[in-house]
Formats: sequence, C-alpha cells, structure tokens
Amino acid sequence: MVLTTDRLLLRLWRDADVAPFVALNADPAVTEYLPGPVTPEQAVQFFSAQNAMHARHGCCYFAAELKETGELAGFVGLKYQDFATSFAPCHEVGWRLASRHWGKGLASEGARAALRFGFGRLGLHEIMSFTVAENARSRRVMERLGMVRDPDGDFAHPALPVEHPLSQHVPYRLPRAAFGT
Ligand SMILES: CC(C)(COP(=O)(O)OP(=O)(O)OC[C@H]1O[C@@H](n2cnc3c(N)ncnc32)[C@H](O)[C@@H]1OP(=O)(O)O)[C@@H](O)C(=O)NCCC(=O)NCCS
Repeated sequence: MVLTTDRLLLRLWRDADVAPFVALNADPAVTEYLPGPVTPEQAVQFFSAQNAMHARHGCCYFAAELKETGELAGFVGLKYQDFATSFAPCHEVGWRLASRHWGKGLASEGARAALRFGFGRLGLHEIMSFTVAENARSRRVMERLGMVRDPDGDFAHPALPVEHPLSQHVPYRLPRAAFGT
C-alpha cells in the first residue's frame, strides 16, 4: 500500500485485480472517452507497466481500493508521461472508476492524495492532466482540484491516429504554488 485517504487505499496492482478491472472497463459509460474495453491480458500488461513505473519513477496509476469493503473501485494516481508532446516529459494525474462509484467524490479524494504525494514526496513543480474535450466529468475533477486549462495547449494524443474521434485532448496544469493541501 502506498497512500491512504478517508475512504481509499491507493496501492500497487495484484493478480486479483484482473477480474474487477476487466469488469469495470466492460462498461460503455466508463470507456465513452477512452479506448476500451480491456482484455485480461491487457489488464495484466497494464498492471505490470504501472508497477514498473512505480519502481522506476516512484509513481503510477494506483489501484484504488475501498477501505470499507476491499473492493477495487478503479485507479487514481500519477503517471510519468514521456510521450511526444510539447509539454512532456511531465507527471499527469489521472483517474478511472467503476460507474457505480461516480458522484461520491472518490476521484477527487484520491487525486488530492496523489497531488500531495507528487508535490511533497516527489518534489514536483507542476502536475498536468488531460482528457478529450467532451469528457466533462473528468474536466470537472480537474477544475475541482484547482487545475487550470492551458488555452494554447490543445493537442492530438500521440497514442492515437490523428483522425481518431478521441484524438484531440485539452491539457490542464497545476503548479505547486497553486496547490492548497
Ligand atoms: C472521471 C471520473 C473519475 C469522475 O468521477 P466523479 O465521481 O464524477 O468525480 P469525483 O470523485 O470528483 O466526484 C464528484 C461528484 O461527486 C459528488 N460528491 C458527492 N460526495 C462528494 C464528496 N464527499 N466530495 C466531493 N464530491 C462529492 C460531487 O457533487 C460531484 O457530483 P457531480 O458529478 O454531480 O458534479 C469518472 O467519471 C470516470 O471514471 N469516468 C470514466 C473514466 C474516465 O473518463 N477517466 C478520465 C480519463 S481522462
């Protein structure tokens, strides 16, 4: 386990997370603005990539477990991004929850812990976030965290062909000085 909040444990990934992770990504509401769904093999690859990122960079998208029940709610965390954009390398705060756990403030709660960790323990000067423009829920989380859209920063996600409907992304920035607690 790496971080705790009132309601969440943010921890590294385990084999037992495969089934709930595949299930939450099989929900079209969850993947409306993401490439999906996810096969069990892709889940295993994702887990090992996140755990390896944590070993190398000290952060990753952490498995977000509900303290009360032990259920995997999804992920929240910081990803080291070195893809081909004008603002990379950077650290990105990101989230994905099973839709039954939306509307409870869990993504914001986990993200605040991830930001504290990034600005504190990792000593970062700025943390970014980005999403497709239409993903209003995700943008609301960014705004709730005090992140501000970079008006000149819209970009085509390098992992997708430029003609892909999810290609165009809007970036948000949070400098350390603008983060409360
Ligand atoms: C993006 C995503 C994580 C946002 O989840 P969310 O539950 O809307 O976000 P939060 O955890 O910040 O919760 C905020 C909502 O909970 C409500 N809420 C209830 N209790 C709360 C509390 N204690 N604290 C804060 N908010 C609370 C807020 O009023 C808000 O409601 P609203 O949606 O009506 O405005 C979720 O929609 C998701 O997983 N989407 C699919 C994956 C995805 O698109 N990921 C992002 C890719 S860039």
